[in-house]
Amino acid sequence: MDLDRPSALLRGKRLVLGVTGSIAAYKAVSLLRALTGRGASVSVVMTNSATKFLAPLTFEVLSGQPVTTGLFEACEEMRHLTVPEGAHAIIVAPATANFLAKAAVGLADDVLSTILLTAQCPLIVVPAMDGGMWEHPTVAEHVRILRARGVVVLDPEEGPLASGQVAQGRLAAEPRILEAVQALLTPQADWLGQRVLVSAGPTQEAIDPVRFISNRSSGKMGYAIAEAARDRGGDVVLVTGPTALRPPAGVEVVPVTSAQEMADALGRHFSWATVVVMAAAVADFRPREQAARKLKKQGRTSFTLDLEAAPDILAMLSAQRTTQILVGFAAETEDLISHATAKLVGKGLDAIVANDVTKEGAGFGSDNNAAVMLSRGGRRKELGLMSKRRLADEILTEVRELRTAGRPSAATVE
Ligand code: CTP
Repeated sequence: MDLDRPSALLRGKRLVLGVTGSIAAYKAVSLLRALTGRGASVSVVMTNSATKFLAPLTFEVLSGQPVTTGLFEACEEMRHLTVPEGAHAIIVAPATANFLAKAAVGLADDVLSTILLTAQCPLIVVPAMDGGMWEHPTVAEHVRILRARGVVVLDPEEGPLASGQVAQGRLAAEPRILEAVQALLTPQADWLGQRVLVSAGPTQEAIDPVRFISNRSSGKMGYAIAEAARDRGGDVVLVTGPTALRPPAGVEVVPVTSAQEMADALGRHFSWATVVVMAAAVADFRPREQAARKLKKQGRTSFTLDLEAAPDILAMLSAQRTTQILVGFAAETEDLISHATAKLVGKGLDAIVANDVTKEGAGFGSDNNAAVMLSRGGRRKELGLMSKRRLADEILTEVRELRTAGRPSAATVE
């Protein structure tokens, strides 16, 4: 993975790019390339007048997605509903004075303006028009209405226009548009350039082809960390045991089943990583032998399984580490702090997130969690009951401090 690209910021983002009938429509081609080049998936919607300036095929080829035009055909396919579904933002560039008027009053006489009324996501509007129009009180009033509604409207720039006039009306320069998109979608990019290896979920240790030993981990905490690191600009590899969760977009997902497979997958990515967060609930023990065929009762009234230790992945990674920051989790039912401190020191970690899994409304399967984060050097941060996503962000903010402080050594772990 190339991490120096600015691409990290829009990975996993779904955007709708609306193009209206302005001579500046040709600039939308370059904008589309810049957005997809940063990892976004972009669905283009053109008004009829935009198609007079550019062929939909241009956008279709460059976006790799069908282009939506024409209200009636599009509505037959319900595209006014499906195109904005799951979109993170709609960007209309260029936006004509006519478009601003329709958006301000809620007219829905073409597919793009109809989408504005069905969409749930933020809207960025980048006007371009001939000299004097931008200053017209009607246009100014429409812009004011849109801004009051929370729409981001980028002022056009001053310069030579298609008519030959020099006035304020040029489409905002591409870097300004990209900056606005990024500011809206990834307000915090403090993990840009970091390579984050996250483990999540339970492991399953086979007894025979149909039975296994596992635990109650849902994977939600690890997935939340992977998503938060991605949203903050990090490159993320998520090694996950079996969960019911949807793989996060923009993250490389490596599915595994057993502790051994998880150890192997993490081992393969370890030298790539700058930070490792072990949120997985790895089995400590596994059946010494796996039966090749289903074990039969054969009239037995009891059964003893012979278990052996599974690899302690964190301890293994800790022994191999060069510059990686290592963060563990400690799920405890008693003596939270002392057990977590013992793991922090014993496994040579930089930080450990300790949670009491007996607490109501937190822990396994829940969407919320509460924890205490202990870090090397004796730092301690109480993280009260909050959503796992918020907790993930708090953990990343804490780890960012450790990153800045530099690589740990065993001597500094207290
Ligand atoms: N862990 C690991 N490999 C294992 C077991 C645990 O890498 N075989 C990691 C977990 O992902 C977690 C941390 O170690 O980040 C602590 O896990 P936990 O199961 O709470 O601790 P254990 O070391 O297994 O100790 P105990 O079972 O005695 O609580």
